[in-house]
Amino acid sequence: RRFLKTAGFVAAALVLVACGKKEEAAAPAASAAAAPPPPPAKVYVVGTDAAYAPFELQNEKGEIVGFDIDVVTAIAAKAGIEVKFVNTPWEGIFNALGQGDRDALVSSITITEERKQTMDFSAPYFDAQQLIAVKDTSKVAKFADLKKLKVGVQTGTTGDEVVTKLLGKNSTNIKRFESTPLALKELQSGGVDAVVADNGVVIHYVANNPADKFKTVADNTSFAPEQYGIAVKKGNAELLEKINKGLADIKADGTYDKIYAQYFGAAPAAAEAAA
Ligand code: ARG
Repeated sequence: RRFLKTAGFVAAALVLVACGKKEEAAAPAASAAAAPPPPPAKVYVVGTDAAYAPFELQNEKGEIVGFDIDVVTAIAAKAGIEVKFVNTPWEGIFNALGQGDRDALVSSITITEERKQTMDFSAPYFDAQQLIAVKDTSKVAKFADLKKLKVGVQTGTTGDEVVTKLLGKNSTNIKRFESTPLALKELQSGGVDAVVADNGVVIHYVANNPADKFKTVADNTSFAPEQYGIAVKKGNAELLEKINKGLADIKADGTYDKIYAQYFGAAPAAAEAAA
């Protein structure tokens, strides 16, 4: 009798344990009886304007690759989430996030107070600054020298913002382009006298297109330091937390430094000290 009682108790306990496990595994458990097959793992759609080498670009095979892509892929691996990158033109990128067409954005996006009103950002993952590109014969030596010149920018970027401030809102000398490569093409053909864009992109372009005969002009007093962040829809704390945790993990275990060195040749701290 005693044995039976104990056995019954143990069996009941086992059932309870099993039920508890089941409830944990199935999302909103409608009926505990017939467990439906587990839903497919969510794939987070990450938007990026893949015309911004070396941060995001399309390779010969049409695949989206680059520093940002490697960083987010590494973050996703740590966070145990699945991501898919979708090429998204810069001009519509923030709307796509707001409307839920994209779960996150990684696109060399500078964290700004204004943008923080309409979206949430991860911890910063990259330091940047505006940089001027001109023909190597140009006399431009500082940002203020652009005041009376034709300047190309990518519409709606921080480069656009700072040039708009210098030349004035209604200046017809500001030439706005859909992408930064288009602005640089215009510099090559002489349609603009200078291009202002993120330093990493300008340096990469000038180094890889020697036939264009461009040079870069830095101006640390005119250009504020910027930091890139990964954006999520305002209020999406769940995804943001996963991203921030993954980012902290890849920074802590050396993965971030490895990716950084692959693209920029040295660990970030060393690069900053040398700059
Ligand atoms: N960092 C600049 C900004 O946030 C430019 C980013 C442009 N990114 C791109 N993939 N086109 O405004």
